[in-house]
Amino acid sequence: MNNQELKNTAQRMVAHDKGLLAMDESNPTCDKRFAKQGIPQTVEARRAYRELLITTPRLGECISGVILYDETIRQRGKDGTPFVETIQRAGIVPGIKVDTGAKALAGHPGEKVTEGLDGLRERLNEYFQMGARFAKWRAVITPGTGIPSRGCIEANAGALARYAALCQEAGLVPVVEPEVLMEGDHTLQRCSELTEEVLRAVFAHLYTQRVELDGMILKPNMVLPGLSCPQQEGVDEVADATVQCLSRAVPAAVPGVAFLSGGQSCELASARLNAMNVRFKSKLPWAVAFSFARAIQQPALEIWKGHEENVTAAQQALYHRARCNRAARRGEYQPAMERSWKWDAVSAGKAA
Ligand code: 13P
Repeated sequence: MNNQELKNTAQRMVAHDKGLLAMDESNPTCDKRFAKQGIPQTVEARRAYRELLITTPRLGECISGVILYDETIRQRGKDGTPFVETIQRAGIVPGIKVDTGAKALAGHPGEKVTEGLDGLRERLNEYFQMGARFAKWRAVITPGTGIPSRGCIEANAGALARYAALCQEAGLVPVVEPEVLMEGDHTLQRCSELTEEVLRAVFAHLYTQRVELDGMILKPNMVLPGLSCPQQEGVDEVADATVQCLSRAVPAAVPGVAFLSGGQSCELASARLNAMNVRFKSKLPWAVAFSFARAIQQPALEIWKGHEENVTAAQQALYHRARCNRAARRGEYQPAMERSWKWDAVSAGKAA
């Protein structure tokens, strides 16, 4: 393992106010999203959609890395160019999801543990050969009555740490993703306590497994009230709660925190990220970035609908969301950007 290279890659992933585009939906998840839009659930449709995403003009201005899925990293564009090559040419770092999903945790009803450690060393070496330079593993923590249990938190934190150590051995920057879910009626305060408990456990296990903190990226949830909680705090309160929670639990050596969107609307995800940077950017040891899937992709998917003639409009929508989130990293995102984007994105597309 070359620690300097890992460090350089991790720095590059959060440099220049850019962030990550997560496009690593497993086939079942991708198919579910396609079905909602009336898009055929085929290998070819998934390939065409991912080609649309990675060939978006000027994507590299706002996106530093894309997270691929095993099927996607092996695919090519219509002209035969491997996706990995297209991504690299755009100045973007290719990454890969390597967990095999969250499964029921034995002895813990209603809780999950993420699997995928068996054979992981070999898979990581193969992905490195294919050009990937970072990886992702998502652990899921469900807030509810009497849960999460300590057993669930420990099992997931332990797996995240073993995955991260294996990634660094293989020369891949681990994106460590412990997600406290938004679903439920828990309060902002409860989400904050849980997120802190989970992050403390994760960093304890990362330390025990000798993971180099300057060669990783943390991908946490924002601290939010549950979706069905009657009390929904404003953007600034969410930004304060999130930064306060992370400040207590995330060591300064970590170069970047890249939030997942977790089912927030695109606009709220951008506004909350923006508020964190407006209020705290100059005071924080780590970059406050994004690694969104739905909050970047959703409008593009809804425009595309599986039709070739919609590709350009879908790419404009994708570029727009990527640009809003880069602006949010700078603390320059304005809700007015949501109204004026069409013209900007059209000219951006033509200029490319
Ligand atoms: P969302 O931004 O849609 O939550 O997805 C991020 C992700 O990569 C989940 O693992």
